[in-house]
Amino acid sequence: MPETSQAIEKIAIQLTVNGKQHSVKIEPRMLLVELLRETLDLTGTHVGCDTTYCGACTVLLNGAAVKSCTIFAVQADGAEILTVEGLEKEGQLHPVQKAFGDAFGLQCGYCTPGMMLSTVQLLSTNQQPSEQQIHKAIAGNTCRCTGYQNIVHAMQLAAESMKGATVDGD
Ligand code: FES
Ligand code: FES
Repeated sequence: MPETSQAIEKIAIQLTVNGKQHSVKIEPRMLLVELLRETLDLTGTHVGCDTTYCGACTVLLNGAAVKSCTIFAVQADGAEILTVEGLEKEGQLHPVQKAFGDAFGLQCGYCTPGMMLSTVQLLSTNQQPSEQQIHKAIAGNTCRCTGYQNIVHAMQLAAESMKGATVDGD
C-alpha cells in the first residue's frame, strides 16, 4: 500500500497575544483559534460551531473583531491579538467584564468572551453607541440562552461606565 501521509512543513511566526510575544512553529493549516487554545492554552476563546456562524471564537486582531476559527494562524504573523484573558489587568476586571456581570449579560457564559470582545471593539470606535449600533456590533455573535436583552443592557452599561476612559479600561 502506498504511503499517503506526508510531513507538512512548519512555518515560524511571531505574534503578540495579550501583550506577550510568542514565537511558534506551526502547520500552515492551523487555525488561529487552535493556536490560541491548543498551543498557547488560552481556552477562554471558545468554539461553538464549525460553520463560522456563532462568534464564540471572536478575538481582536490588531483591534478588529475577527472570528478566530476563520483565520489561519499564519495570517496572524506579526499581529497583536487580544483574547478574553487579556481584558483583566492586575486583578481588576475590565469595565466590559464588570458590566456583563452587573447587568446579568450572560447565562451559561459560552458566548460571553466573544460578546465582550465585540463590545470592546465597538467602544473603541464609538463611546456612545445607539441600540441599533449595539445590535449591529454583535450581529456575528450568537447567544443561545439570554434572548440578548441583558447583553444589550450590559453593553450600554459598559459604554456608560467607560465614558472618557480608553478601551484598556484606564
Ligand atoms: S467557532 Fe463558531 S464562528 Fe468560530
Ligand atoms: S449565555 Fe449561553 S450562549 Fe450566551
